[in-house]
Amino acid sequence: MAETERPSAVVAAAEIERLRDLIDQHNHAYHVLDAPTISDAEFDVLFDRLAALEAEHPALVTPESPTQRIGAAPSERFPSVQHPLPMLSLGKCTTFEELREFDARIRRLLERQEAVAYACEPKIDGVAVRLFYADGRLQLGATRGDGETGEDITANVRTLESVPLRLRGDDIPAQLEVRGEVYMPRSAFQAFNERSRAAGERELVNPRNGAAGSLRQLDPRVTARRPLTMYCYGIGRIDADWPISSHVESLERLAAWGFRTNPLTRCVTGIDAVIEYVEGVLAQRGELDYDIDGVVIKVDDFAAQDALGVLTRTPRYAIAFKPAAEEALTRVVGVDFQVGRTGAVTPVARLEPVFVGGVTVSNATLHNADEIARLELRIGDLVWVRRAGDVIPQVVRVEHEQRPDDARTISFPERCPVCAAAVERAEGEVVARCSARRTCPAQLVHGLLHFASRGAMDIQGLGEKLVAQLVERELVRDAADLYELDVDLLAGLERMAEKSARNLHAAIQGSRQRPLARVIYALGIREVGEATAAALARHFRSLDALEKADEESLQAVRDVGPVVAREIAEFFVQEENRELVARLLAAGVDPEPPPAQPARAPLEDQTWVLTGTLEALTRKEAKARLEALGARVSGSVSAQTDCVVAGPGAGQKLTDARRHEVPVLDEAAFLERLEELEA
Ligand code: IVH
Repeated sequence: MAETERPSAVVAAAEIERLRDLIDQHNHAYHVLDAPTISDAEFDVLFDRLAALEAEHPALVTPESPTQRIGAAPSERFPSVQHPLPMLSLGKCTTFEELREFDARIRRLLERQEAVAYACEPKIDGVAVRLFYADGRLQLGATRGDGETGEDITANVRTLESVPLRLRGDDIPAQLEVRGEVYMPRSAFQAFNERSRAAGERELVNPRNGAAGSLRQLDPRVTARRPLTMYCYGIGRIDADWPISSHVESLERLAAWGFRTNPLTRCVTGIDAVIEYVEGVLAQRGELDYDIDGVVIKVDDFAAQDALGVLTRTPRYAIAFKPAAEEALTRVVGVDFQVGRTGAVTPVARLEPVFVGGVTVSNATLHNADEIARLELRIGDLVWVRRAGDVIPQVVRVEHEQRPDDARTISFPERCPVCAAAVERAEGEVVARCSARRTCPAQLVHGLLHFASRGAMDIQGLGEKLVAQLVERELVRDAADLYELDVDLLAGLERMAEKSARNLHAAIQGSRQRPLARVIYALGIREVGEATAAALARHFRSLDALEKADEESLQAVRDVGPVVAREIAEFFVQEENRELVARLLAAGVDPEPPPAQPARAPLEDQTWVLTGTLEALTRKEAKARLEALGARVSGSVSAQTDCVVAGPGAGQKLTDARRHEVPVLDEAAFLERLEELEA
């Protein structure tokens, strides 16, 4: 017997080894490289042949054989394992400003002036796993647990085809510990749930839960049926004689040994490039086949990483950028109606306070009656609130199915909540307005605030509380009354000290000399923004000429169409408005006409781009002032761009500007330039 078996075992052993190599290669191509080299049917032939040979020669079966991924029997529980090196977590930040602070800190600690190279990669929302290989063979797979101690889930990890059971290549370390994230691709999650639904089985809640639950199955055969994969993002430990000097290099090594690494990983230099990378990844977030909960940024150089060191649980050399969630769920506890400068009545939802987009929000605009109808909103409803950047929070969706029994319908007021005048909605308009004009205190307060605002008469210190007091005490009935207020009277107002009263008085008096464009804008004519006001000032050169202009001559002004022309003409038809202008002039307001016939606007034919956050001006104000100077404001940078204004957080556009050698101004320089040009 022995004599006939031995040669066949030797032959079989050689074939088994050849089949394992082939199957490993095809597995790697399919599950790691996403580039299948043979058909499933051909693969099955190889696999079945190997399984049959192993069945004939059980002594030749090894734990690294591809047939052994699913072999293990169910266990009672997972033994716990101590991590030789703790599995750390990451510090996080939510704004680009904080990301810049991270970079500043790194450079300060490293005493470096020049830009630092950072490895950037998506932060996969899955399950952290540690793998250990000895002599190239998988020995252990463990969960992160509390970072010090995790669970031994080796049998389950072995079922993932993207996890090599033996390392590829000849040049392999004796000991290697790999870190990575196991996840369920979105597409696989959906397909899995579809099949479960069809079979009447329980569906998975989301890909993350799916991955975590699948890895913690006591029966590895269940795990094997779950579509899991793994991206490796780092080496935990390796033999001392492996000279790997950077994060990116370690990923290259891992890929060579057969691990799956994220192809979106990049090494970029300097924080601007990091921000650009982050913006890029976040922009394609929806198209990725996995969920991410941010971007991980690591100092690439290992020597620098070591120099920076580790805080208690988080390394100093890395950070996770996690943008604040832009939507949150909360309850509508009431609806108020606000009356603005033009009498527009805006419904505002009062919310149970909720943290969203980086701030706590307790109000959200509902825009108008049509929007309330579209949302089918009632008071008491649970709603999704969205706030992105500095945009006013909005209610985007209502959870109708969770409506409480005592939810109340919202009725739009028929009378102004401030002055009780009728609320009117013109034919074909979505906006309802209070029919009183300057006699409505709300319209008057907002009109005065607009009059005093920075782009208009720029009266510092005239805030909302103060204006409300002036209107309530009937000290001011229109903007011209402001110029009659004396110091004693102002000092007698609530929360007004003598010194502030004097300052405010000086500010009001000092506002009498303002460029004509600002005075026109300050009047608050509907549809007349700063740019239109500037165009009107250039064209008419005095309030008197503007007042007398008919619709036709108004339309001769650049950018003034029929709608705007009608609003202007209608404004001056009203006696009270003509009277206001006369009273302003009588009070000493002395609008300065623009310099006589400037041949060209100073920035005519120029294209400017605004990017990042501006602090002293809103984007809108900056745009209007540039346009008033004749510039076109564009959203993208090209070789044709004349200038880029970049505030903190500027990303791609700033990089584009540098590439095209377009001059860049920071906000301070920009303000200076504006003032020069506007003078
Ligand atoms: S690096 C020393 N890179 O995020 C820092 N972590 O808070 C080690 N994660 O549970 C982590 N994708 O599993 C790193 N590309 C990535 C990651 C990543 C996901 C997870 C990680 C850990 C958590 C860190």
